[in-house]
Amino acid sequence: MLPAVTYILPDGSRCSLDLSDGVSLMQGAIENAVPGVLGDCGGACVCATCHLYVDETRLGELDAPSELEDELLNGVAAPRRHNSRLGCQVRMTKLLDGLVVVVPERQR
Ligand code: FES
Repeated sequence: MLPAVTYILPDGSRCSLDLSDGVSLMQGAIENAVPGVLGDCGGACVCATCHLYVDETRLGELDAPSELEDELLNGVAAPRRHNSRLGCQVRMTKLLDGLVVVVPERQR
């Protein structure tokens, strides 16, 4: 079974997807037309338009952000929170099955 992720959109609606192992939260959103995740740079970690808020209770299960991601997170359009991550830098694994992420109001 593929790991599932749920995106909560700014209007409160939910979009649940089963993503292959190794697919990033940005890629998964783009490939499945989840609105609000732009991914302008295609995952090169330079645009910060793939900002997501990750379920706080599962933050510890993710690899810590790289220095570059951390730097880019300072420039996201929506407020940065302690659970802010760039979707292109978080890859789904079976261990993350059931992850819930919130799509911010704006990416630019
Ligand atoms: S897609 Fe550009 S930083 Fe994530």
